Amino acid sequence: MLTASHLGFRYAGIPVLHDVNLRAEPAAMLAVTGPNGSGKSTLLHLLAGVAQPAEGTVTRDPGIRVALLPQRTADIDALPLTVTECVRIGRFTPWRLPSRRDRAVVTALMERLDIAHLARRRLRELSGGQRQRTLIAQTFAQDAGVYILDEPTAALDTGSRHRVHELLTERVRDGAAIIMASHDDEESALADHTVRLAAPESSSVDPRGQA
Ligand SMILES: Nc1ncnc2c1ncn2[C@@H]1O[C@H](COP(=O)(O)OP(=O)(O)O)[C@@H](O)[C@H]1O
Ligand SMILES: [Mg+2]
Repeated sequence: MLTASHLGFRYAGIPVLHDVNLRAEPAAMLAVTGPNGSGKSTLLHLLAGVAQPAEGTVTRDPGIRVALLPQRTADIDALPLTVTECVRIGRFTPWRLPSRRDRAVVTALMERLDIAHLARRRLRELSGGQRQRTLIAQTFAQDAGVYILDEPTAALDTGSRHRVHELLTERVRDGAAIIMASHDDEESALADHTVRLAAPESSSVDPRGQA
């Protein structure tokens, strides 16, 4: 579905990723692990196509839709969106009005992620966990072939985490490819494959102990 070959990336000349190779298969989950600063978020941006690699290539199967949940989403708070509006954006299609199915998908996800009672609240009025659950609902509202999620459960309590993991497992069962950055061993154990990024060069931390 999505293949990365010999990827390299630099910020203002400072190398972050070097010779990264991976393949996201249908009906499989791929975990991207590594310590802080190892380049997980950067890699996910390259895979999603929101940044371009300095070296190597990312190829996506023709027609494949990619849904990205970034790690940093603070900019969205500037918009006066309610929780429902934010989740609905995940189903927005420019050339048609929302269908009954669109509404049903949004309602079901809001219930499953326990944000239905927050429907009219603005994003900026939510707790970190409530806000993250809203953005996860927006991501899963999309009918995508590949879901790219950057530490989606880092701010969530145990119950919410399990709900998200159930959603992930269902999407995989339905044939989607999932690529998820995580520094939680238990969470990465859910994946079929793992790509482990090394610690940044300036760090003396042993990357093998730091997944
Ligand atoms: N916009 C940026 N400009 C310059 N350096 C950046 C930028 N974003 C990230 N970096 C640097 O790139 C490295 C990898 O960052 P990141 O991909 O966010 O790692 P991770 O997600 O694994 O914590 C870090 O050293 C970070 O400081
Ligand atoms: Mg990151």
